[in-house]
Order: sequence, then C-alpha cells, then structure tokens
Amino acid sequence: MTQWWRDAVVYQIYPRSFADGNGDGTGDFAGALARLPYLAELGVDAVWFSPFYPSPLADGGYDVADYCDVDPRFGTLADFDAFLAAAAGHGIRVIVDIVPNHCSTAHPAFQAALAAGPGSPERELFIFRDAPNNWQSIFGGPAWTQTPDGQWYLHLFDSSQPDWNWANPAVPAMFEKVLRFWLDRGVAGLRVDVAHGLFKDPELPDVPDPTPSDRPSPWFHRPELVAHYATWRAILDSYPADVFPGSRTAVGEFWGDEIIHLEPYFVPGGMPQAFNFFLFQSAWDAAALRQTITASITLAEGSDVVAPWVISNHDVMRPVSRYGAPAPARSDADVDVALGTRRARAAALLLLALPGSAYVYQGEELGLPEFLDIPAADRDDPVFHRTGGARLGRDGCRVPLPWSGTAQPYGFGEGPAAWLPQPDGWAELTVEAQLADPASTLELYRAAIAARPGGEFAWLAGYDLAFTRGDGFACLVNLGREAVPLPVHASVLLASGTIAGGVLPQDTAVWLRLS
Ligand code: NOJ
Repeated sequence: MTQWWRDAVVYQIYPRSFADGNGDGTGDFAGALARLPYLAELGVDAVWFSPFYPSPLADGGYDVADYCDVDPRFGTLADFDAFLAAAAGHGIRVIVDIVPNHCSTAHPAFQAALAAGPGSPERELFIFRDAPNNWQSIFGGPAWTQTPDGQWYLHLFDSSQPDWNWANPAVPAMFEKVLRFWLDRGVAGLRVDVAHGLFKDPELPDVPDPTPSDRPSPWFHRPELVAHYATWRAILDSYPADVFPGSRTAVGEFWGDEIIHLEPYFVPGGMPQAFNFFLFQSAWDAAALRQTITASITLAEGSDVVAPWVISNHDVMRPVSRYGAPAPARSDADVDVALGTRRARAAALLLLALPGSAYVYQGEELGLPEFLDIPAADRDDPVFHRTGGARLGRDGCRVPLPWSGTAQPYGFGEGPAAWLPQPDGWAELTVEAQLADPASTLELYRAAIAARPGGEFAWLAGYDLAFTRGDGFACLVNLGREAVPLPVHASVLLASGTIAGGVLPQDTAVWLRLS
C-alpha cells in the first residue's frame, strides 16, 4: 500500500465528458458515482479528475475561479466527498488536478488586482507590466493582454488565464493551503498542471524566437522549480502512509522537447512522479519507441521519482487516429480506423507491460477515435478559436463517452444532447456493446490490467521491440511489415489481434508466458 503509485494504473476522468448524472448534457460527480462499478471492474487503482472547480470553463476548467470548491455544473463538495468515499469502498484512490501556473480572470484575486490598479500589492500576485515583451501564448497569439488602465498581464495560455507571480511568497503560501485542503479531504494525490511553468525569469526578457516550445526558456523549466517541488513533497510525505490511500503522491505535467529537459526533476525528494509523454510523442516506429523507452527508464534510474507511461490524455489526438493516419489528421476521412485500432490495441499491451505506472485516459479503453469533424460552431477549445481554426484543438478527444444504445447521446446522460456532439456510428464502441464482445478493446484493457506483469525489465534480443519482465514474461510488438516468429513459449497470455501459426502479425502485440 505504501508507495502504491509506483506501479499503479490510473484512469483519467475528464469530468465534463465522462458521465452525466443530471441530464444537463455535462458530466458530473453524480454520473461518475453511478459509473464507479465500471471503473472497479476495469481494475484501476486510482482516478485522476481533470479540474471540476468553479470556472467559466474557458479552457475546460483549467481556468480556475476557486481552487477549493466544486463548480455547480459538476455537483457540490458533498458530491465530491461521496465519490471519494464510494471509490475508497472499491479500493480506488482519487487524484485531483492542481493548476498552479495560472487561474481564471474570474478568480477573486485577479478581479481585485484589476480593481486595485497599477503598483498595488494585489497586482503583485500576477505579472503586470507597463509594456509587453514578445512572448507568445501556447494557445496562439500574444502572451499579454492589456487592461483598461493601460497595463498588461502575462498569460502563457488563454487571455482568460492570468499567470500567478510565483516570485511573490503569497502565491506559494496560498497554494500550500490549496494542497492541504484536498489532502485533508482524503485525496491520494495531485496532478500538477504545467508543472514546468510557474516561475518566470524576473527580467521577462524578449526571446530571439518566441515560437512556443517546451525547451528550457524564461518561462519553462526554471531552476527554482526543483526546490519548490521539494517543499510540496514534504507536504505530501507529512500525511500518514500506512492507512488507505497510502502515501500521497503528485504527478507533474512536465513537457519537454527532449527527454533531457526533464532530468532536473529526477532527484531524491522531488515530485514523486513526472509524466513521461515521450511514448505518445513517438512515431509508430520500433526504433523510435525503443529509444524512447530506454531513455525514459534510464532517466528514472537512481532517483526515487517515477515517470508514468501515457499513450493519451485530454490534450492529444486519440491513439486510433494518431496511429491510423500517415500525417496528423484534420478530418475523419484522413484516418484508417481499422489500422489505427490495430495499432492502438498493440500500444495498449505495450503501455501496460512496461515497468512502472500507466495512465489511461477515459475512452482509450474503448478504442475511441478522435472526432475530427466537429462543426466549427460546436467547438469549444480556445486553441481552435485563438488560431482561427488553423489548429483544430482538443475537442475531438473530449467527446462525451458512449455508454450504451445506438444513437446520441449513447447513454452519456438522460438529456437529449451532450455538451459536445458525438459522431454517428459509435454504436459498436459503447461500453454496453464492448462488454458483450470478448474481442473488444475494453475487454483487452480489462484483461491486461488484471494480468500486468512485474519483475525486472530487459530487452529481448533478436526482435525490434520485445522485452521480458522477470523470468517468465515477454511482451513483443511487431511494427514491421512482415509477421515475426514467436519465441519458444509456454502459453499466449494475451494478444492484441489474432495469433495463428506461431507468428506475430504486423501491428500486433502479444504477452507470452515463457517456458
Ligand atoms: C495542460 C492541461 O492539460 C491543458 O488541458 C490546459 O489547457 C493547459 N495545461 C493549461 O492549463
């Protein structure tokens, strides 16, 4: 129980789109509570909720107006507590999303800063200047917005998401209270949004190339972060580890352009977990994946920080569509869904056989494709709107889940329509349909989660992408063009596709019990 998070399977819930309990078209805690048995049967150790706090939802809730409450659209604090208690009854822990880089312009502290005017202590909580520099928003457009009194404020994301000033001790002090608020309620951990952000170079210098990237820069991967996260680790470690939910954890959303950019976080006493996004950034190519896996394992060696594996989340194109198109798809017609599904299933067996923890994003276990053809008028993501549609944004992976039935809203809720449209043709992808089909992607995930291997990781010689865990287990993935003979084995434990004639077909993965 102690460090349960070291090899846990964590299920990410994007609350708006998971399950709607009150029929208003938006997911909520009542809906999630009703679906807890589903999560228990899937076999996950914990759920991570993307933000559910009071928010204008300009960025799906990552624009927080109050860090210590629940938006009425999602329910109440009592509903949160009810979910937490019921989840504990299934042995499932809860992780909440902390958004420390920025808040919402609707946050009372930002409203007070606007009202107090230039030079006020209220403005010192944010980054106000008389003139902007040349930094660009990650969502497109400038990273500065002017207020009516002429000053500008910094926002690395949407103009509705002002950045906190982490150089002001009042900001870390406030967040410490936020952390304790949720930890005291019994959450098992925190997912930390834009963990490589927060501190900015105090000079706010212009940069030669303002194109957003995840390299170290005057706004990302600042040296102050390491000491800062040691203080959060100390808070986490001050909670008792010997009773449920075990030791408290935090998983940082650290993006880097290269694995080396994450190295500073892998130090004793650092944030317990740093997401490893390189698996899903890697092409469907054996050499690239192999290199990524080796580099990731090497990175964590010798530190007590772990780097969970991920193949999807609410910010990136769903694996079926990513692996099913030769170039980033812009339309559903660009995707070969059958190919993408084969590869996504193989990737699932890879994900769940690697050593350490894995995060599964809602709908990944159903093999949902990205919905790329959402009409512009229905799109919600500020990335779409700030770039005039040049970037489609992330709505396509945030489509409400199909639970049952043959037509929209596919059992998502009782209401006539969900907050984002679902595509036609998802009848075979519903939970209900997949539970009735032993060959479904859902059943593959359930079986794989139940049978995850332990033991030392070692590459298996003679294959492009194959490894063993301990003495008796092997995972092979065939990304080549030809079928590959299987090694001598006692039995096939699981396969992502049909195995016949002792060979592993293209775009297929298998788990073997070795003899
Ligand atoms: C990362 C979150 O995952 C994403 O959804 C959000 O838009 C940005 N951070 C800004 O909070």
